[in-house]
Amino acid sequence: VVKGIGDRFQQETKYDRHMMGWSMDRIRRPDPYKEYPDADRTDLSHPEDICRGSLDGALRTRRSVRRFADQPLTREQISYLLWASTGIQRKEGGYEFRTAPSAGALYPIETYLAVNSVEGVKQGVHHYRVRQHQLELLVQGDWGKRMALAALGQRPCADCAVVFVWTAIFDRTKWKYGQRAYRYLYLEAGHIAQNLALASAALGLGSVQIGALFDDEVNDLLGVDGEDESVLYLSAVGHPLRLTSAHGRGLP
Ligand SMILES: Cc1cc2nc3c(=O)[nH]c(=O)nc-3n(C[C@H](O)[C@H](O)[C@H](O)COP(=O)(O)O)c2cc1C
Repeated sequence: VVKGIGDRFQQETKYDRHMMGWSMDRIRRPDPYKEYPDADRTDLSHPEDICRGSLDGALRTRRSVRRFADQPLTREQISYLLWASTGIQRKEGGYEFRTAPSAGALYPIETYLAVNSVEGVKQGVHHYRVRQHQLELLVQGDWGKRMALAALGQRPCADCAVVFVWTAIFDRTKWKYGQRAYRYLYLEAGHIAQNLALASAALGLGSVQIGALFDDEVNDLLGVDGEDESVLYLSAVGHPLRLTSAHGRGLP
């Protein structure tokens, strides 16, 4: 197997007993909240109330779903999925903590939604305003096909109700951990995506996690620069298409 930058990264970001590589500046802890003050906002409902599924049920039913029914999600479902993946769960000692763990509680991952079909939410690209549990509309329109093209032509991004897009703001975590931050960013995106996958399953919805994407094409759709902030991972979510014998095929 060919060795390259990934192998060097793994070696050069190791901690050992003589080298920890911390360089934090205690005065300027990065702000964990990105906000778009001029954006149109959509209020989301109280998110904790709608899920009746169990963790055990979600673990048994989660699978990658790549074919979606032409059925919108509700605003309540989106509200729950955002909260479950990376919403604020508790306040302690003056800090707000979220449903997924974060190295140093620095929360470097931002969430955007490419909305194809959600009742009461405009089609377009939104940003999740975590602190107020709201959506901020960045650009309106039918972006599903462009999102699919930016994800190597993967149709689930166009056929699903909504694509969750996770970026990292690198400096939030580099401030404390230097280059080792890159390990943590990817781990954190995985935590968040797994929360979303299990929460989707618990609501009877399907999702597929997508790592194959043209990074800067997705960044352009979001309006982020690809340097200070860049996309890491996607998930397409919607109602699974249930094939019946009427379609000539049984359930897969
Ligand atoms: C990091 C990562 C990247 C992935 N990227 C894609 C992708 O780009 N497209 C896709 O259809 N599935 C993608 N998947 C889903 C895997 O193909 C899927 O999880 C695997 O086949 C196991 O099936 P299951 O999820 O149904 O258990 C990805 C999964 C992970 C963890």
